[in-house]
Amino acid sequence: METTLIILKPDAVQRGLMGRIIGRFEDKGLQVVGCKLMKISGDLAATHYKDHQGKPFYDGLVRFMTSSPVLVMAVRGVGAIGMARKMMGATFGSKAEPGTIRGDFGVSNSFNLIHGSDSPEAAERELGLFFGAGEVLEFERRIEPWVYDVSSGSPE
Ligand code: RTP
Ligand code: MG
Repeated sequence: METTLIILKPDAVQRGLMGRIIGRFEDKGLQVVGCKLMKISGDLAATHYKDHQGKPFYDGLVRFMTSSPVLVMAVRGVGAIGMARKMMGATFGSKAEPGTIRGDFGVSNSFNLIHGSDSPEAAERELGLFFGAGEVLEFERRIEPWVYDVSSGSPE
């Protein structure tokens, strides 16, 4: 099982797309195990996007991410990190394929609706930045044996 950090960016919140985007993850069978609305501080945005410091789009990115509240989610499932990235689509809304979140809901390259961790290391780091102790929950879904084949003892 993997847990990934998803951020519904300020444009997704302002445009009233939260429910529809969360619904896509729920429809897929991924489990939402943490969720909160918050305003990202300049320091947190800088830490989260530290790998992009110095790039031409960095200042605009931090301004955007701190401009209005975001919804942060911890999303769990087998292979959840890569699966969420595929569901998000290519970085730029103008390039993202139809059927993906960025492809279906946006046209902008900078205002691209959603962030998802891009590796297990990034997921661990980012979940630690956005969620405190006890905010990511461990709970059994009654539907789990119908979401996954668990007959071998592990979810497949
Ligand atoms: P994210 O980190 O937000 O999940 O997006 P990503 O991996 O698909 O893209 P990344 O390369 O990490 O870029 C981070 C965010 O910066 C903005 N960006 N703008 N105008 C530009 O050239 C440009 N390039 C990147 C986007 O908001 C992107 O999601
Ligand atoms: Mg990225």
